[in-house]
Formats: sequence, structure tokens, C-alpha cells
Amino acid sequence: MVGLNLMLSVQGLGDNSVEKAQRLYARIAGVKLNSNSPILAEMASLIEQKRYSEAANKALDSNDYYNISLFQYFAPLSNRAEVSDVSLNDFIVMGIANTFTDPATGKDRPYTNLVDGDFRVQLNNQDLASNNNTALTNAFNARTILTPLNLTIVTPQRVNFPDAAGLLTTRQFLQEHATAGTNRRLVHYAFREFLCTDIKEWRDADLSISDEFVTRDVNRSPGGGAAGFNQYQTECRTCHQVQDSLRNAFAYHDFVNNAPVYMPGRVAPKINRNIEFQGGFVVQNDSWENKATRNGNANRFGWRGPLTGNGAKSLGAMIAKSERFASCAVERVFKHVCLRAMDSSEGTLKQTLARNFEADGYSLRGLFRSVALSPSCLQVGE
Ligand code: HEC
Repeated sequence: MVGLNLMLSVQGLGDNSVEKAQRLYARIAGVKLNSNSPILAEMASLIEQKRYSEAANKALDSNDYYNISLFQYFAPLSNRAEVSDVSLNDFIVMGIANTFTDPATGKDRPYTNLVDGDFRVQLNNQDLASNNNTALTNAFNARTILTPLNLTIVTPQRVNFPDAAGLLTTRQFLQEHATAGTNRRLVHYAFREFLCTDIKEWRDADLSISDEFVTRDVNRSPGGGAAGFNQYQTECRTCHQVQDSLRNAFAYHDFVNNAPVYMPGRVAPKINRNIEFQGGFVVQNDSWENKATRNGNANRFGWRGPLTGNGAKSLGAMIAKSERFASCAVERVFKHVCLRAMDSSEGTLKQTLARNFEADGYSLRGLFRSVALSPSCLQVGE
């Protein structure tokens, strides 16, 4: 109902080419153009000639797209509260920089880099500090415009670090999700941000799934007695039997003294420290197994690759290969550009956009363009 009203109001926005150009720019780049802007005139002219993709590209090539729209897109994914009023951080700038055209190939970089890529960014050819966010906070406060000239992608992510998983192993993501906990939140939020699903949805009460990897910190009879035993079986286990076996991907990762830490062969002490149930699993290494594959999860995720691995990078690769990874990006971009969630009648459109996104090498710019020009979004095309 809400979606329908919005669609009607967009249709009612008027249909001359300048208004269409203004709408296209504002929704892609996140800000309106001045009415005397030459870009607006160029876009309007392209729209009149039905060269809609080229019109969209004008917005996608703008500094506003990177600094306003993509900031707004990545900021909520970067923090536990999922809000956008945060300062610049390495998660956000890496998301932005990954969307710049790759100068080596002249092509867009794949969005999959965000969960399994081995890269970092430099600001004005300087590495970011590992134990503070000062350089980016300063850039943010100075309203520095990020462009491929001052923000560059380099490899590797860190020295002697074979387990880079894109934004999942950034300082920001580890600060948010590898502190005050047992690294389970890293999985919980990796799935929230890149698979658009909360553990309340993907938990599975199926007792034929083995809880062999649930660690000793989870009480098998919270509160004691038969009631406690029952609570573990019907409640705690539903999440922990699918989550704990994935969490092991981050066994060697931690966030200590304000900096990311990776200890190959050494399980972060916090993981095995608390003991509520002696017979629970003791994490010995970073091998993980995906048990979120049955029942509703089969369709929810559409896994298409290995379901076991070692470390965060292989977990990220599994996330990237899933059907859900692409459709999650579609949902996010659609909401961002069209200012409404896709509704249940738009399943086919979602599938088409997701498969085209994959075929297009997971170009985020390309996805923004396809979404903005899809008929039910901005009514710019025919
Ligand atoms: C809806 C899913 C869900 C259910 C149900 C659930 N948990 Fe958890 N549990 C989580 C998540 C997610 C985390 C990680 C939370 C974090 O670090 O923010 C977690 C963390 C934990 C931890 C580690 C706490 C720490 O400091 O890192 C323990 C212990 C735990 N749960 C025990 C239980 C017990 C006992 C029950 C049943 C009474 C239970 N859980 C039910 C999802 C669940």
C-alpha cells in the first residue's frame, strides 16, 4: 500500500526532461543540482534523446555520488547501531573506493570484494593508522571530497595477513563486532549487512542439525533442571547450532588495544574462556562449517559454493557466491534510490536485477543505474 502511494506520487511529479533529470541525479547522487547546473542541462538533453543510461552515468560520475550517496549507503552497514550519522571510517571509505573504476582494467571492481577482497585504502598516499581513526575523522571534519586522486586502493590489507575478507576485516567492523563478545557478532552482522537477514530469521530449530560446535560458554540447561534443558533445546540451540560453527571463521581474529589483531594458529582467548558446560565444543582452529542450509535457509540463502572452509576470507567468499548476496544488494540499492522497499509483487524484478548484477561483474554503479532506470522506480525512462 505504502509502495503504491509512493509510486503514484513519483508519477505525479511531472514529466518534463529537466524534472526527470533532477530526479535521476538527486536519487542516484543523493543531492539536488542547482537549476542552472550544466550537468542538469546535459542530463535533460540525454533524456530527451532517450539516452537514459548516459544520463544516469552523469550522476554516477559525480563527486556527489561517492561522497554523499555512497557515504549514506555504506555508513549504516559500518556500525552496530546501523545509523548513518557517523564519521568517516575505513569500512565506508573502502566501500566508496571499491566503487571507483579500476585504473588497471578500466572496469568497475566487483562488489564481492567487500566480503572477500584483500585490499586497503590510502588517503593522499598515506596508510591509515591501525589503532585510530584520526586521519579519516579529520578528512570528514574538513569536508574533504574523496576522489580517485586522493583515495586509492592498494594491497595487501595488512602485512603478514593471509585472511583479508574485505570490509569484514576492517578496523571499523572489528571494532564494532569483535569487542565485548566472542566473535559471534561478526557473523551475525556480516549476514545482516551483506545477506540482509537477522539471526532471528535464519536460526533453525531442526533437531536433526547437530549442535556439536556449540561451545562451552552456552549453558545447556540455563536456569537448571528439566525446564533449563528444554529451554536450551527449543531456544538457545536454534541460534547457536547454526551460528557457532560459522563463528570459528574468525577464531584467529581479535581487536586489541584499538587495533585489529590476527594470530595464525592461535584461537582468540575470549572464545574458549567461559565455561558453563564442560562437554561443549572447544575451538581449536579456524575451520568453519555452514549448517544454515536446510529447511527455510536453503531458499533464503541460495548457497552456490563450498559450505566449509578455514578463516574469514573463505567465509566471505561463501557469502559472495550466494544468491542472497546479490539480491540483498538489489534490495538495498532499490530502497536507497527509489526510497521504498521492494514489495512482494516485485520478486521477478528483484531476481532479474540480481542476476544482471552478477552477469555485470557485480558492478555497484551498474546496479544503481539499472535500479534507477527500472520502470517502477523513478519513471525517468519510458
Ligand atoms: C536469536 C538467536 C539467539 C538465541 C535464541 C540465543 N542466542 Fe546466545 N547469542 C546469539 C548471538 C547473536 C550472540 C552474539 C551476541 C553479541 O556478541 O552481541 C550470542 C552470544 C551468546 C553468548 C556469548 C556471550 C558473549 O559475551 O559473547 C552466550 C554465552 C550465549 N549466547 C548463550 C545463550 C543461551 C544460554 C541462550 C538460551 C537461553 C541463547 N544464547 C540464546 C544469538 C542467540
